[in-house]
Amino acid sequence: LHVRSRRQRQMCIRDSAQTVPYGHPAFGRDPTTDQTRQRKPMSTVPESATSYYENSIEEVLIDEETLSKRVKELAEATAARHADDPEDLILICVLKGAVMFLTDFSRALPIPNQMEFMAVSSYGAGASSSGVVRILKDLERDITGRDVVILEDILDSGLTLSWLLRNLSARNPRSLEVVTLLRKPEARQTVNVECTDVGFDIDDDFVVGYGLDFNEQFRSLPFVAKLKPEVFQ
Ligand code: IMP
Ligand code: MG
Repeated sequence: LHVRSRRQRQMCIRDSAQTVPYGHPAFGRDPTTDQTRQRKPMSTVPESATSYYENSIEEVLIDEETLSKRVKELAEATAARHADDPEDLILICVLKGAVMFLTDFSRALPIPNQMEFMAVSSYGAGASSSGVVRILKDLERDITGRDVVILEDILDSGLTLSWLLRNLSARNPRSLEVVTLLRKPEARQTVNVECTDVGFDIDDDFVVGYGLDFNEQFRSLPFVAKLKPEVFQ
């Protein structure tokens, strides 16, 4: 499934601009101006945090409605593959980026499922891959003999995933699949980064929102957006 056309995207930005007042002062540092911003007094707190990040966003790539529809489709396709499993499906969420995806996916999944969390680090504080993978938090349960689905936020170089697949398959699950919400061109072209299902194939842009961060910011945006290059360059 491909993301929206440029025209559709522009409409989408216009839509979000209508609901969000422009130029709202935000907490923390505004990466575009490098200034510390002030919180609004509680009586005038905006309806959503989106306005805090507006100056940093170039365009909305995938809006809330499109995300939720696609996550439901991914969950239903997964359930169809696992309709006859003897035990509950184990969903593995790779923290922190896939956390929004996991919670929506799990609720959309029409079969019993259990959640496990794993944290690995492959990126530092910046926007480029280091290729070094480290376990920061391991699974709490044994997955031997179980049907396991890894939920990934985004595949870029695929280094994180191919390492993770090797690590988890060594624990002898009954089956092991990967469902990724987003995939960048590099991962699409690499044969050893096979995944069972993909939400959206996107261009090679740095994206944030719906769990994805830049320096831990922007995760709470309800949509996936492209950052302005000056924010991460
Ligand atoms: P890979 O090992 O290069 O496939 O990197 C995958 C991980 O890098 C993801 O799970 C994300 O945490 C992070 N990442 C890659 N691209 C982006 C992006 O565009 N925005 C935010 N995080 C990203
Ligand atoms: Mg990240």
